[in-house]
Amino acid sequence: ADRYAVFGNPVAHSKSPLIHSAFAEQTGQTLEYATVEAPKDDFTGAWQRFVHEGGRGANVTVPFKGEAYALSATLSHRARRAQAVNTLIVGGNGRTYGDNTDGVGLARDLAHHGVALKSKRVLVVGAGGAVRGVLAPLLDEAPGELFIANRTAEKAVALAEAFSDAGRVSGGGFEAISGAFDVVINGSSASLAGDLPPLPETLFAPGATAYDMMYGAEPTVFLRWAKTQGASPIDGLGMLVEQAAESFFLWRSVRPDTAAVRATLRQALE
Ligand code: ATR
Repeated sequence: ADRYAVFGNPVAHSKSPLIHSAFAEQTGQTLEYATVEAPKDDFTGAWQRFVHEGGRGANVTVPFKGEAYALSATLSHRARRAQAVNTLIVGGNGRTYGDNTDGVGLARDLAHHGVALKSKRVLVVGAGGAVRGVLAPLLDEAPGELFIANRTAEKAVALAEAFSDAGRVSGGGFEAISGAFDVVINGSSASLAGDLPPLPETLFAPGATAYDMMYGAEPTVFLRWAKTQGASPIDGLGMLVEQAAESFFLWRSVRPDTAAVRATLRQALE
């Protein structure tokens, strides 16, 4: 069977093996999907060993997306924009092709929930690697305005500047947030620490959506707060499934149906 894996550190709790096994079963593809906990200082060595042993492709998660980007011989346009790779493919010539499916995963999950960004006011919270990875696909949806708010204002300003050719985007600190937004996406790692970024109470427009790129058995503090403010909360579980589906498609040229796998995964979380 063709061999794939998710590389990370830590990686034991990754849901990717469950998702890809379900995709394989559903589409009748024969493949193996493992987890590889690469040493923090030797991702490249771990990847080369995997390829040497017949590995055909991989997902890459924290903290290796930058290293996967650096070692890819060829990069997709969206990976280059993200400056990060979450999907590796071994080409027929044995060379490594790097892509990034995180942004398209988020865009598809929003679409799945019936959330359109076109002409809407969109706020993205955070300006780290996770946000950089999804900005281009979000801007492709032509929001009326996209504001990036970050604890460190300069990082948001710089990130907005880097994507200014892709759409109407600007950035600043939390104090620079003004007016109400139709869609608020939390891409900061504040949720991991159980922190709520200092967001104004006037943040949500009527009928607004609050999206957290994180997920867990319990709603994040951001989503719990958003709900009290009248916004509809969505966690990042669907994004995880959608980015995986896009990776699966890159490897196998078959598009899995994500709906059934969302349900399986939600149950597995509980
Ligand atoms: P990731 O890969 O998750 O994006 P990162 O590149 O380290 O990780 O970025 C983390 C992001 O979460 C940053 O935007 C960070 O804000 P700073 O740029 O000011 O550091 C944000 N972040 C982390 N903890 C936070 C907290 N407790 N409150 C608000 N923002 C936080």
